[in-house]
Amino acid sequence: MAMVNPTLEAALPLGDRADVKGLLYGAATTARKIQQDSAFAAAVARECNLLVAENDLKWRALRPTPEQFDFTRGDALAAFAQAHNLQFRGHTCVWHNALPDWFEQVVTHQNAEQFLTDHIRTVVGHYAGKMHSWDVVNEAIDPVGEGIDGLRDTPWHRFLGADYIDIAFHTAAAADPNALLVLNDYDLDYAIPRDAAKREAILRLLQELVARGVPVHALGMQAHLRASEPNFDPMILRDFLRQVADLGLKILITELDVVDQDLPRALHTRDLAVANVYQTYLDTVLQQPAVIAVLTWGLSDRYTWLAGFRPRSDGAAPRPLPLDALLYRKPAWSAIASAFDQAPSRPHL
Ligand code: XIL
Repeated sequence: MAMVNPTLEAALPLGDRADVKGLLYGAATTARKIQQDSAFAAAVARECNLLVAENDLKWRALRPTPEQFDFTRGDALAAFAQAHNLQFRGHTCVWHNALPDWFEQVVTHQNAEQFLTDHIRTVVGHYAGKMHSWDVVNEAIDPVGEGIDGLRDTPWHRFLGADYIDIAFHTAAAADPNALLVLNDYDLDYAIPRDAAKREAILRLLQELVARGVPVHALGMQAHLRASEPNFDPMILRDFLRQVADLGLKILITELDVVDQDLPRALHTRDLAVANVYQTYLDTVLQQPAVIAVLTWGLSDRYTWLAGFRPRSDGAAPRPLPLDALLYRKPAWSAIASAFDQAPSRPHL
């Protein structure tokens, strides 16, 4: 068990450090965790200046039946954000995962556009004026898959073709003219062929959307990083971010965490390796002035999707986030703090 360091615990929170530089720091979580775990909720309120809906604004959470919308959990998160002066961020209007069980039986070629636009109008409209940003379309790119146009083979694509992306952004913009509308995706970070293909495909898509006047305002980089991935090249990433910024788009790091699956078990070495990945990545991306937000996918190792999705073979609990499972600040926290402290200032929006 690591010793608690009182100086570290008393240091200025991440959100305050980000704010000094005109940046946002936030974390994703659920209404359930906020409601059931008051110590965790207090840590979120302390460290963040933005709250991301991890699951509560996905179709499966919002759409118990084809006719109904259930905003209970989304509204609870929105209320928590408002009570603690956090901005709020929606995730996600269009995704091939987390669709309700009824979806397959009910949605068809004939009614898909109606379902898509009704959903976005209702949900984005419900939170209009309260949302910092929305992930309008999540994980649409699949350059090596079946799709002929670099897009992922999803129900939306099968029903509506590539147009579903334009439709989604136009509908979201009409429903909330003030939210920043984001195209969010993963595997954009490393100097490996898979990520290079993804970067190329997403740049092409963004160029086309911008050229057609589709209201996309930002790229979301999920940034689920891997501590055991040696192929990180700051120049390549910087170049990519510059090309996105040159299109007039903002960039958000939306789902940052560091997979520690293949690292040695010993806590101290593991934590330092994870922290090192945060440091190197954030030092690189924060050089780009278009990067306006750093959002981690969770705040504390107490709750991380990686426990289920990237378990360690030795059964040890993963430690991918800034706070440990007891909510104490880890080396990853210090790495993020120092990356904010060293980041160039942006104009406050
Ligand atoms: C994950 C959540 O963290 C889990 O709780 C849920 O069971 C599955 O979805 N990319 C995304 C997120 O865009 O929505 C995913 O979130 C993680 C990967």
